[in-house]
Amino acid sequence: MELLKGKKGIITGALNDKSIAWKVAERALAEGADIVLTNTALSLRMGPLQEFADAHGCKVIAADATNLEELAALVDGAMEHFGGPFDFVLHSIGMSPNVRKNKPYEALNYDFLNKTLDISALSFHKLLHTLYTKDALREWGSVVALTYIAAERTFVGYNDMADAKALLQSITRSFGAIYGPARHVRINTVSQSPTATTAGQGIAGMEDMLKYAERMSPLGNATADDCADYIVTLFSDYTRKVTMQNLYHDGGFSSVGLTAAEAATFQEEVR
Ligand SMILES: NC(=O)c1ccc[n+]([C@@H]2O[C@H](COP(=O)([O-])OP(=O)(O)OC[C@H]3O[C@@H](n4cnc5c(N)ncnc54)[C@H](O)[C@@H]3O)[C@@H](O)[C@H]2O)c1
Repeated sequence: MELLKGKKGIITGALNDKSIAWKVAERALAEGADIVLTNTALSLRMGPLQEFADAHGCKVIAADATNLEELAALVDGAMEHFGGPFDFVLHSIGMSPNVRKNKPYEALNYDFLNKTLDISALSFHKLLHTLYTKDALREWGSVVALTYIAAERTFVGYNDMADAKALLQSITRSFGAIYGPARHVRINTVSQSPTATTAGQGIAGMEDMLKYAERMSPLGNATADDCADYIVTLFSDYTRKVTMQNLYHDGGFSSVGLTAAEAATFQEEVR
């Protein structure tokens, strides 16, 4: 199958081979896409992305996603590389200094909170704004950002990332309502199962979260590879009328109240 044959796009956030974006990059290439990879200068220096890019003949452009000038250079560089506008963009960026420094939600450091929101949510607005003002996306282009169900329901340990994800999802709807009529560009978030990546591992109690979600998901947790399979469909022409949606990709977790297995465990406990 070459679902993305002839399509071109930018993939942000591939840090190492555990990253969701890394898997999306592999899958997009396998589906025939031409991609530009980007991450911060620091992570490019420290991580293996350049090697991956060299092995696959992809262009890499360093950009801090909170910096408008660097985003402008990224989009200009991608247009130059592709010879004009392109078709898809993946936003796969998240970081919370409060999570990293173990500041609990009831005692957040507000400078850190500003950073969390800037890196994990406003960067999406800045990226969309840059794409829009440069008219960098082709008609029926597709933009996908990654989110987590903690935007809608509380999950202990997810901290201020929950606020960032709620804002990210709101930006998706607000910009989708503008980019749709203007250029037929669709914008969606994929709400992924907990996944053992570098960012994922930073969340307090991640191991328990993974096990709990696995138990409560009728299909089990979705892996990063599963996520990549889903995301390439959202970049393809088969999903052209899907926009402004938060799409759960979580083995059914988001629709579960009580499973039969959990009910049985509970009955044993109370007996
Ligand atoms: N791992 C999970 O459990 C999980 C679940 C749902 C959603 N997500 C989301 O998936 C996305 C990707 O995370 P991941 O789990 O693959 O982890 P990851 O650590 O592999 O990826 C996070 C990426 O963000 C990049 N980044 C951080 N600050 C940046 C900045 N200023 N500019 C540009 N890039 C920057 C990092 O370099 C890294 O590549 C994030 O939005 C995350 O919140 C993850």
